[in-house]
Amino acid sequence: MRQPLIGAPLDRVEGGEKVTGRTVFTADVVLPGMVHGVVVTSSVANGRIRSIDAKDALALPGMLGVMTHENAPRVNAGGSPPMPSLLFLLQNDAVQFDRQPVAVVVAETFEDATRGAELVRVAYDAIAPEMDLETAPAYVPEQIFGEPADRHRGDPRAAFSAAHVRLEQTYRTPTEHHNPLETHGTIAAWAGDRLTLYDSTQWAFGVRARMATVFGIEPELIHVIAPFVGGAFGSKGQPWSHVALAAMAAKMMDRPVKVLATRPQMFAWVGHRPQTEQKLSIGCSRDGRLQSVIHETTSETSAADDYVEPCGVFSRGLYAVPNYAMSHELRRLNISKPTYMRAPGEATGSFALESAMDELAYELGMDPLELRLRNYAQTDPDSGKPYTSKALRECYRLAAERFDWKRRNPEPRSTRDGRLLTGLGMATASGGSFRSHADVRIRMHADGTVVVSTGTIEQGTGSPTAYAQIAAEILGVPYERVRFEFGDTSLPYAPLAAGSQTSSSVGSAVTVAAQRLRERLAESGGRVPPDGIEINVEEKPRPEEDDYAQASFGAHFVEVAVDPDLGSVRVMRFVAAFGAGRIINAKLAESQFLGGIVWGISMALFEETRFDLRTGRIMNANLADYLVPTNGDIPPVEIIMAEEDDQHVNPAHVKGIGEVAMTGSAAAVANAVYHATGVRVRDLPITAEKLLGGARR
Ligand code: MOS
Repeated sequence: MRQPLIGAPLDRVEGGEKVTGRTVFTADVVLPGMVHGVVVTSSVANGRIRSIDAKDALALPGMLGVMTHENAPRVNAGGSPPMPSLLFLLQNDAVQFDRQPVAVVVAETFEDATRGAELVRVAYDAIAPEMDLETAPAYVPEQIFGEPADRHRGDPRAAFSAAHVRLEQTYRTPTEHHNPLETHGTIAAWAGDRLTLYDSTQWAFGVRARMATVFGIEPELIHVIAPFVGGAFGSKGQPWSHVALAAMAAKMMDRPVKVLATRPQMFAWVGHRPQTEQKLSIGCSRDGRLQSVIHETTSETSAADDYVEPCGVFSRGLYAVPNYAMSHELRRLNISKPTYMRAPGEATGSFALESAMDELAYELGMDPLELRLRNYAQTDPDSGKPYTSKALRECYRLAAERFDWKRRNPEPRSTRDGRLLTGLGMATASGGSFRSHADVRIRMHADGTVVVSTGTIEQGTGSPTAYAQIAAEILGVPYERVRFEFGDTSLPYAPLAAGSQTSSSVGSAVTVAAQRLRERLAESGGRVPPDGIEINVEEKPRPEEDDYAQASFGAHFVEVAVDPDLGSVRVMRFVAAFGAGRIINAKLAESQFLGGIVWGISMALFEETRFDLRTGRIMNANLADYLVPTNGDIPPVEIIMAEEDDQHVNPAHVKGIGEVAMTGSAAAVANAVYHATGVRVRDLPITAEKLLGGARR
């Protein structure tokens, strides 16, 4: 019997090319006559540029020019939704954050441009930057991701006051930078009023739209080529300043210009996760039934935008709690614009809520898993709607059994392995599932080969493999005969590859297109005419999908070992289970879940961007001082995929898998650390100083 292709753990089609270094990323592209732009960044975080002296730079051989606010082409740096932020395009002398672009040095070679950038002398009238989250001007944003920023049901304050058991705690998460391995980069080339951009982006069509606004030209005049992206995590969801700067320099020099961000510049203008301070007030009955949850979030934003880290999005729908409120407040600091990063709001919000649930379990003398089960939400508590599917109960059971959770001695600091303190912790994972408008063209040629075309990108998730699997399965053709064509705005429209929505969006469009092609084939008796069959599909969410709540869920179980003398934490074992609808490719899906867990461990133990609060300068803008885990930091991770036959969510029957594993994973580690040590760390990352200096409670 023929094995089903959907679900099969096939290797990535482009895997061989990637591991042998043949895949062409943006930085690898070389155009005839191309020259190099290097961005000069500010050395103060607030103030004005007094003067820029480029004499020494311009005297170097191979130098073509220095673009500053005094000579840069005038463009439209402001944006419009969904990309409202300002770009920093050398339009004036204001400096608002450390490492803001202040000039672009253009030379024949990258080396010459780099040397030139070092020789540009910028003088500033500096002003003390606002860097303190506690004292910075506060305001309430109007909306988060298009929804109200405040929300409540029932009477949360009264229910909190009346509750028998009350917990009130504040949790903090630091500024974090995405740091994809492939740094940001753009190559811009003009031909008359036509602009070609090679860019490392999660959304080629978004780059096109935004650059059309910047240059005041029709989007159709802009061609964006962006097939392979070497990691992004949200940082490439919108075009940042360097994209426009490359195009401006190309215009000025009348040559194609390549601009790449250096690793230190990855901490400059390409986004970051904002620090948060989250206050949770939870009231519950003595038998562990939640009565009230109040989740108040403060997060940082920049002088020029209103990005909200939407932490409440995690707590508003996770547990069956009758009285609930979330609110979000922003503080303006002299930092670059924050943006979405690896499960925005849900990663940060889950650290707070799932830590608090753990604290509550100890308070009640109840098993942390039992407390979650007691408050299990059968329908979405926020909207009241049924879920398209929800295998969370099954996830808890499968992962707890595999982990052998019941062997846990509930007493903190009760278990040792030699000198080391060991601890077990768990947490719930939950990630919203969405889809957006996506178009697909599918062609079957007379020889039976199939080409699926869409402008989406491949950022390590395996989209070319997964969508070929869907098409091959539906059409009943061998997988090898399907080719996926992508990464170019000359192909059909594809949405932002973020929010875990690509398989639900593009996957649904591929599904519908392949089904129509199959019908067409049936009509012609299975024969393909000499010039082939072509189907074009514009696939949008259907009204009936809105009758349901959509989310992926999961459960994390973690064991840690802590050295009581050194305060060092090692994650020993990780078991997690997820329910995320239909799995298109078990190998790629496992890799997505694993990635989320790695970044969750990273969030718990390593990542933190550190600022000098007096100057506003980032102190660890490199991968030596900004810590991310190595292979040695990651234990064996077991991933279980719970079956979900989801008939309601979308035509592809898939839910989001890119981000759900990131949620809850940091809290699970923190909860295991508490169980091991009796020290509750409420501000990430969990470091040796905090563990050794922390009071037990
Ligand atoms: Mo992601 S933060 O949805 O790229």
